[in-house]
Amino acid sequence: MTGYLELGLFLPSTRGGLIIAKGTPPQNEPTWELNRDVTLAAEAGGMDFVLSQVKWRGYGGETRHWDAALESFTLMSALAAVTSRIKLFASCAVRTVNPAVLAKMAATVDQVAGGRFGVNIVAGWNKFEYAQMGLWSDDDYYLNRYEYADEYLTILKRLWSEEEVDFDGKYFTLGACRSEPKPANPLKIVCAGQSDGALDFVSRQSDFSFVGRMNDTPEQLAAVVDKIGGMAASHGRQVRSYTLLNVIAAPTDAEAEAERQTYLNNRDEDAIQEFLRASGMDVNRADYLKLDPATVTFMSIPCIAASYDKVAAYLDRLAASGLHGVCLTFPDFSTDVPDFIANVMPRMTSRQPL
Ligand SMILES: Cc1cc2nc3c(=O)[nH]c(=O)nc-3n(C[C@H](O)[C@H](O)[C@H](O)COP(=O)(O)O)c2cc1C
Repeated sequence: MTGYLELGLFLPSTRGGLIIAKGTPPQNEPTWELNRDVTLAAEAGGMDFVLSQVKWRGYGGETRHWDAALESFTLMSALAAVTSRIKLFASCAVRTVNPAVLAKMAATVDQVAGGRFGVNIVAGWNKFEYAQMGLWSDDDYYLNRYEYADEYLTILKRLWSEEEVDFDGKYFTLGACRSEPKPANPLKIVCAGQSDGALDFVSRQSDFSFVGRMNDTPEQLAAVVDKIGGMAASHGRQVRSYTLLNVIAAPTDAEAEAERQTYLNNRDEDAIQEFLRASGMDVNRADYLKLDPATVTFMSIPCIAASYDKVAAYLDRLAASGLHGVCLTFPDFSTDVPDFIANVMPRMTSRQPL
């Protein structure tokens, strides 16, 4: 049976979003006004959440893709103040912020948001982002990043619930550490890691997991959803799965496909090469990304380009595969979000009241 599918936005907080192509769109500037306006449109249109990523270095090229990126926590705090219902997730690169600092940042944003806030835990995979600020001392960090994240989360959860925390770990030491205010309710934790270490971390520490690779079928997604659900159940926990999806929707398949081709034809080869160079250090992605250079234009994120009817039907299939929600990204958020709300959401059976 098809469940209710949550829908959210992967906010346009980085230049170019998830399409490495020249032209406008997709190279809309990641301004506060754009992010505020699309979040308000998503909230008014009945969407469930927005998430912003954390990025410290882009890929250059003619488009200077991702070179500009709004900081995630400060952005979400401002969005918390201007919204009232939609859930908000900021991303934390655990390598960059001491957990005692992050505990207070998150509790503060959650207070502004009235309990609508959660944290996306980013272990960090791009050495260039962290090496440039002296935070990647050696490549062992990459190998042990989810062990590091695990210690980090253990500390966060204790600071959010205990009066004083003593901790003597491999990476962190806390002595009678205090943190107030406490969040009114436990904050929801998201993680999008795909590696074995990440799945183990997710099953023990997070509430939501992002799953899915470029060419996964809904059936393959269902298998991953089941796997994570089973791993979490073995720890007496529940983890809900989401996926990230690039959407190009139009009245007809032909129009959507023509738009997709435009981005492929205008792809920024230099920025793509830099993205591959950075990704090549990630052993999980290296071979995978080199299979089909053209689709790297969409940054290895699944992309559907189709009519409103077919996009709605595809989302319903994702709901049927056990996914709890989908995080959406678009070439041009300012026009595509209202278009999606008006023309795709009403066609989805997985958005009708149960
Ligand atoms: C929805 C979503 C959000 C993500 N957000 C970020 C982010 O903000 N910053 C980042 O560096 N990586 C981000 N990632 C990448 C993941 O955190 C993770 O590093 C990647 O999926 C590779 O998994 P692994 O670390 O298990 O190898 C995101 C991925 C997804 C699907």
